[in-house]
Amino acid sequence: MPNVSDPEPLNFFKFSLDKIRAGIKGSIGREILFYEKVDSTNSIAELLAARGKTEGTVVLAETQRKGRGRLGRSWLSPPFVNIYMSVILRPQIQLKDITLITIMASIACINVLRKGLALDASIKWPNDLIVSGKKIGGILTEVHIAEKRLGYAVTGIGLNVNIDSVEFPNEIKDIATSLKIETGRTLSRTEILIDILNELDNWYKTLKDMKRKELLNEWELLNCTLGREVVIKTGKESLMGLAESINDEGMLVLKLPSGERRIIYSGDLTILR
Ligand code: BTN
Repeated sequence: MPNVSDPEPLNFFKFSLDKIRAGIKGSIGREILFYEKVDSTNSIAELLAARGKTEGTVVLAETQRKGRGRLGRSWLSPPFVNIYMSVILRPQIQLKDITLITIMASIACINVLRKGLALDASIKWPNDLIVSGKKIGGILTEVHIAEKRLGYAVTGIGLNVNIDSVEFPNEIKDIATSLKIETGRTLSRTEILIDILNELDNWYKTLKDMKRKELLNEWELLNCTLGREVVIKTGKESLMGLAESINDEGMLVLKLPSGERRIIYSGDLTILR
């Protein structure tokens, strides 16, 4: 992966759309729409998907005014340092399997961080990308359901690449990190984006072919959640227990101190030990 000592230092901090287009191997990212400033790449991708845009189309932005995360949180989106992108997907899967889209995207991202950058990166259920116990990125999948079928999905990925710790607001200083902080190098967002899109293409095929076991096995290899004592805040309650497994649909199986097992569909998970 190139660093700042490469030629063209002035262009280094900008995305090179030509290089991205040349580096794309599959159908994810065959069309890339780049915006300098948007409210949220997920919102733009949703609008385009609703108008029939083909699957694999990627919306990429330099900065977001209203980048959003899960559970109504905002996503820090300053320009020239990070990656904010959303991809339109139209998998023919059952509604019960929708979580597998996020599982698939997190596998793709973590593989890039592990293979390309040799980082000890892992997935915290359901969508957090973790390095050194801190959040380096996140995935937000939003879906459109019509007549009890999945119409389309938009999977948004935010990855902290070259942001420095001083740029994190106080609320997230201790829990957020970036590739630059972890590797000590300024990295090419262009190269990382190419790798993510190609890995996504690969793992999206696995999802579309519904090679469920392959996906779940890979997720298990890459996760840092299973076997840990956790607290999960769902909409209505806070549950403590052992994160025992994920089921076939990617839901978390939590074993409570009473021995009872609960299937957790979504929530905010904190690892205790
Ligand atoms: C999370 O961890 O809560 C998910 C964060 C997802 C952030 C990305 S940035 C690109 C896309 N556009 C958004 O508004 N959100 C996602």
